Amino acid sequence: MNILVTGCNGQLGNEMQLLEKENSQHTYFNTDVAELDITNQEAIEQFVASHEIDGIVNCAAYTAVDKAEDNEEFCSVLNSIAPAYLAAAIEKRGGWMIQISTDYVFDGTQHTPYVEDDDTCPNSVYGKTKLVGELNVQKLCKQSMIIRTAWLYSTFGNNFVKTMIRLGQEKPELGVIFDQIGTPTYARDLAAAIFTAINKGVVPGVYHFSNEGVISWYDFTKAIHRLAGITTCHVRPLHTAEYPTPANRPHYSVLDKTKIKQTYQMEVPYWEESLRECIEKLMNEK
Ligand SMILES: NC(=O)c1ccc[n+]([C@@H]2O[C@H](COP(=O)([O-])OP(=O)(O)OC[C@H]3O[C@@H](n4cnc5c(N)ncnc54)[C@H](OP(=O)(O)O)[C@@H]3O)[C@@H](O)[C@H]2O)c1
Repeated sequence: MNILVTGCNGQLGNEMQLLEKENSQHTYFNTDVAELDITNQEAIEQFVASHEIDGIVNCAAYTAVDKAEDNEEFCSVLNSIAPAYLAAAIEKRGGWMIQISTDYVFDGTQHTPYVEDDDTCPNSVYGKTKLVGELNVQKLCKQSMIIRTAWLYSTFGNNFVKTMIRLGQEKPELGVIFDQIGTPTYARDLAAAIFTAINKGVVPGVYHFSNEGVISWYDFTKAIHRLAGITTCHVRPLHTAEYPTPANRPHYSVLDKTKIKQTYQMEVPYWEESLRECIEKLMNEK
């Protein structure tokens, strides 16, 4: 198959490129905005037709959750409309599409892990635009998978893990929210799950994927510092109200992964094991 991957310079896109080497039975076309701007419908149509694309993995998105509150129009073009362009183009060729979405489609008022059929109720611009993107892809491409993920981190790009290591090394004290609960996702594990789906065959529908386990941002920070050998920074637990941000964030956004595990017979790594691997990689890069 010829497979188009968008947003390849991002966290997930970079991890996809690394794992492609172990999945060489298909040909991957890795693109970011310089090679293929996914807000340009004509360019997408032309790319998909001329490269005889059979499947698309859309890793591109507007991911600046707080900035999105003041940039609704642009965020909507990238997160809602562009996925529709991709879905329509691949549907014309009878192909499949994997669209990456987010736990922010939920409002976080539940106390038990979210399953795919739970009612969505985004309360941020980012979450709303990602939800419309999900619906557009499902409407326009019959063979589509929506994979919702959460708290993504990687050795690539800027993310919570890298920020907490930097701040932990710089500051004697740090306040981190303890009343938002979820599960981190090492982007490499998500990329591996995407390759499993590609290699076993796309089964249309909505799926949830994060690492296993449940923690708060505060506990996550304590683990990051422990694994990175940072002992000089005191981490204080904060209430959400003590750290106001432009965008609302779900208080509870644990995703139930039973469906993707059963459909693809896959095992999902525990968050701490994946975090350890990522931090070891980061330390070895230095
Ligand atoms: N990060 C998280 O915590 C998180 C949580 C849940 C779900 N997700 C979802 O997971 C997916 C991957 O996230 P990520 O963290 O890997 O994102 P990311 O690091 O922000 O990467 C997104 C990539 O898309 C590129 N891009 C922006 N506009 C584009 C355009 N018009 N055409 C083509 N590419 C464009 C970006 O380029 P620039 O950097 O130049 O803009 C960037 O390289 C996204 O769908 C995101 O919504 C992320």
